[in-house]
Amino acid sequence: MTVPRWIPARRVRIALWISAALGMAVWMALRPHQPGLVARKAPPTKAGRTRVKPPAAEVVEFLKTNEPAVSVGRVTYADHIAPILREKCQACHRPGQVAPFSLGTYDQACRWKRGIREVVLDRRMPPWHADPRHGTFANDRGLSPAQRAAIVAWVDQGTPLGDPDAIPEPVAFPDGWTIGTPDAVFTMTRPFTVPAQGVLSYQRFRVPTNFQGDVWVQALEARPGDRRVVHHICIYLEGKTPNDEGRAERPELVCYAPGDLPSVFPKGTAKLIPAGASLVFEVHYTPIGVAKADQSSVGLIFARDPVRRRAVTKGISNKNLVLPPGAKNHELRSSFTFPFDARLLSLSPHLHLRGKDFQYRATYPDGRAEILLSVPAYDFAWQSVYRLAVPKTMPHGTRIDCVAHFDNSADNPNNPDPTAEVRWGDQTWDEMMIGYIDYDVIEPRALAGRPAPGLR
Ligand code: HEC
Repeated sequence: MTVPRWIPARRVRIALWISAALGMAVWMALRPHQPGLVARKAPPTKAGRTRVKPPAAEVVEFLKTNEPAVSVGRVTYADHIAPILREKCQACHRPGQVAPFSLGTYDQACRWKRGIREVVLDRRMPPWHADPRHGTFANDRGLSPAQRAAIVAWVDQGTPLGDPDAIPEPVAFPDGWTIGTPDAVFTMTRPFTVPAQGVLSYQRFRVPTNFQGDVWVQALEARPGDRRVVHHICIYLEGKTPNDEGRAERPELVCYAPGDLPSVFPKGTAKLIPAGASLVFEVHYTPIGVAKADQSSVGLIFARDPVRRRAVTKGISNKNLVLPPGAKNHELRSSFTFPFDARLLSLSPHLHLRGKDFQYRATYPDGRAEILLSVPAYDFAWQSVYRLAVPKTMPHGTRIDCVAHFDNSADNPNNPDPTAEVRWGDQTWDEMMIGYIDYDVIEPRALAGRPAPGLR
């Protein structure tokens, strides 16, 4: 068959097809967003996979040179490794959780043996970003030197199984809640459909509690309906009420972001949800290329013990921030002085994609000063609450200074636009600088420690 002269030869036709397909792909990636959504260029996002940043090189170096050498003998999965994976890995490495694969069985552990050896040696797993030289935290996920040595030895000894009957059961996580089985779960009243494309401003959903009396909650956890599209959730009480400093504020209950943000308060401390309160779910959705419906929830565990102290979340922020284009190490500070006696319970730094590091420092009324928390390699993709092992007294007049650095240069691989002057804003290509703290104060209303409604 002769081909008419205007149809190019086969090879040229294939090349034309390929370039048309490529052109289409580029157009799909770069085309403007749907009307009705915020029409701004979104930075590229790698949907579906959370890369956890390794801890800072100086921290790894410090740990490697200061941790005692441990010698382990013969190691088996049944006796030594399964208990470690249970305690330190399965919170995330189980079905439906944030980690990309499970570590619940011998076969799974063997399949990942090389990766496991590598990530425990270079301290990438379990994820933990606090500098060990400052503060002691109840939720520190780090392995002990003996646990690390056992894992490495097990891989080096050829992953022996040991006695299969001695393998402990994997940990049970009731319905996937990290805090335990909630006494009450509130869910968005109807699903929200996240479009396939575009940039969404924060969506807000009101959920009534119908609580007949005041309720004191000991633990709270926000849970996304579909992790693939939920960037983060913050749950507030509806309406502004005067805070402890007398300023009108939306009381914040709990947030979710990849990382570990449930709130768990020490015995005798709880958050107050007043009778009749409604919750507001503020959700940041990020489209992933296909439309998805989300219906997120929050789980609450009521206080069982008499409540003597009321827990409060406070954001110590610097909203006037301006990051010059290209700045490599721009410093910003925010501070707060306690106008009353309180106890510090936890710390949770929040920056966006240009955030580099974060420190909280306390200066006490007697002039003493200390670093409460230092996160030298801040990871936007992995936000943590650092819960103090022992609540710390903050006498009236104690000042907390938050110090953060930002990299707005092209050296920052996450920087969506190194030529931009960046200001405060909700979207990830805007910036934020908030040092969240949870503190508690003696609460006369709580002294009765009334049990919550619905509790038998
Ligand atoms: C708090 C959650 C969490 C805990 C606890 C955790 N991991 Fe992970 N792990 C993740 C996430 C999220 C990823 C995927 C992100 C990445 O690859 O950076 C991951 C990835 C990995 C990888 C693959 C790394 C790669 O380069 O692809 C290995 C291996 C691993 N984890 C081993 C472990 C081991 C062993 C433990 C326990 C000692 C552990 N993890 C504890 C969240 C966790």
